[in-house]
Amino acid sequence: MTIHDSTASAPDAPPGSAESRHEVCIVGTGRVGLPLGLTFVETGVSAVGLDVDKELADLVNEGVMPFHEPGYDEIIASRRFHVVHDPSVVTRAETIIVTVGTPLHNHIETDLTQVQDVLESIGEHLRPGQLLCLRSTVAPGTTEFVERWIRRNTDLVVGETFFLAFCPERIAEGKAYEEIRTLPQIVGTQDAASEARAVALFRRITREVLTTDYVTAELVKLFNNILRYVHFALANQFAMIADNFGANIHETRELANHGYPRSFLAAPGLTAGTCLRKDFGMLNEWSPYPDMLLSAWKMNEFMPTFLVDHLCRRTDLHDSRVAILGFSFKADTDDLRDSLAPKLWRYVRRQLPDEIRISDQNLPDPIPEPSIRDARNWPISEALEDVDAVFVATNHTGYHEALRELARTRPDAWVADIWNVGRVNQMFYQAKALDMAEANA
Ligand SMILES: NC(=O)c1ccc[n+]([C@@H]2O[C@H](COP(=O)([O-])OP(=O)(O)OC[C@H]3O[C@@H](n4cnc5c(N)ncnc54)[C@H](O)[C@@H]3O)[C@@H](O)[C@H]2O)c1
Repeated sequence: MTIHDSTASAPDAPPGSAESRHEVCIVGTGRVGLPLGLTFVETGVSAVGLDVDKELADLVNEGVMPFHEPGYDEIIASRRFHVVHDPSVVTRAETIIVTVGTPLHNHIETDLTQVQDVLESIGEHLRPGQLLCLRSTVAPGTTEFVERWIRRNTDLVVGETFFLAFCPERIAEGKAYEEIRTLPQIVGTQDAASEARAVALFRRITREVLTTDYVTAELVKLFNNILRYVHFALANQFAMIADNFGANIHETRELANHGYPRSFLAAPGLTAGTCLRKDFGMLNEWSPYPDMLLSAWKMNEFMPTFLVDHLCRRTDLHDSRVAILGFSFKADTDDLRDSLAPKLWRYVRRQLPDEIRISDQNLPDPIPEPSIRDARNWPISEALEDVDAVFVATNHTGYHEALRELARTRPDAWVADIWNVGRVNQMFYQAKALDMAEANA
C-alpha cells in the first residue's frame, strides 16, 4: 500500500456543457454518481453524466436534485453538470467513472447486468489514453473481469494504451457532500500508469489516496460494509437475548460501553438498505458453507418477525389500528431500497389488524413499494390518532416528539421501539412509559 498525500488546490472550473470535452464522465448518475459528478464540478474538474434514466436526467438538467442528499442544491442549480443518454459522450472524456447499480439476484448471486450493459454500450466509444474507474461496489474479481472484457472486445491494452482502476465509493447516504472530500480514496490498479492516472484524479477532490491492487480494493469496500452488517446483527442478537431475560438492552449497552475502552456495542435496529444487505451476498456467493455472514443475514432479516411476534405477546393486533413510523431503510433518507419496513408491514398484516397506517415524511404518497400495493402515506399526527399500536421502523428525526404526544393522547397504546426513539430504554412499552422515563431522567 502506498499513501499519496496532497494538499494541492484544484484548478479553476471550466464551463461545462454536454457537448464539450470533459475531464470526467460519470456513467450512472444515481445516489453515488451524481454527488461525485457534482463534487468534481464544484472542485473545478469538468464533468458530464451518462444515465439511461430519462426522468432523472431531466431533473438534473433542470437543476433539481432527484433525491435527498444535502449540500448539493446550489451546485446542481448552477446547471454546470449535465446528464445525457448518448453513450458516445464517453469519447470526449479523459476519465470514465462507472457508478451503476450492482444488486443481487433473488439467489445469493451478484447481478452484474448493469455493469455488463455499460460495457456493451460504451465499449465502441472507448479510445486510447482514457482511464476507466469502476466505482460501483463489486464482487471480488469483477475489475479483472472488466479488464478481460476490454481485452476481448477492443484493441485497447490496459496499462499501455488504456488505463483501468477500481476506486470504491465508501460514503454514507446523506453524508456524501462531506465524506467524498474527507474519506481517504482507495485506488486499486494492476499497473503503474493506471495507478498514476487514478491517483492524480482523486487528488483533485481529496487529500489522501491509498493505492493497492484490484482485488484488495474490492475487498476493502466489502469488508467495510460487511463489518457493519455483522456488528449490527450482533447488536440485534444481544437485544433478543436481553429481552428473553427480561433485561433492558439499552441500559445494558450503555453500561457495557461506558468508560470501557474495549466495548463498542452498537444499538439494535432494522438493519438493511441496499448496500449492507447485498454486499454480504457478494462475498457469500463464493462460500457454500454456513458461516458468520449467513448468520448475520438471518439475524438482521429476523428482526421484523421478532418485533411483531413480541409485541403480539403483549397486545393483540387483531382488529386494531396499527401505525408504522418510518419506511425508508435508515434515518432521514428518502431511500426505500431494501428497507425492512415493507417486510414488517407484511408481518403486521398477517395479524389481521383493522388498519395499518404508514407514516414517513421523507417518502411520497402513496408509498412507491409494489409489495404493499398503494399504501397511503399518512401525516404523522393522523397516523397516531386513536392508534392501538405503533412500530418505529426507522428512527427519523421528530419521532421522539411524536411519541411524547402519543403518551398524552393514547397512553395505553403499545409501542415497539427497537431504535429507542422514545428514550424509554425498552423495546416494547405502553406510550405512558415516556412520561415516566422523562420524570426519572
Ligand atoms: N447508495 C449508497 O449510499 C452507496 C454507497 C457506496 C457505494 N454504493 C454502490 O454504488 C453503486 C451505485 O449505487 P447507487 O445507490 O448510486 O445506485 P442508483 O440506482 O441510485 O444509481 C445507479 C444509476 O445507474 C443508472 N444506470 C443503470 N444502468 C445504466 C447503464 N447501462 N448506463 C447508464 N446508466 C445506467 C441508473 O439509471 C441509476 O441512475 C452500487 O454498486 C452501490 O452498491 C452505493
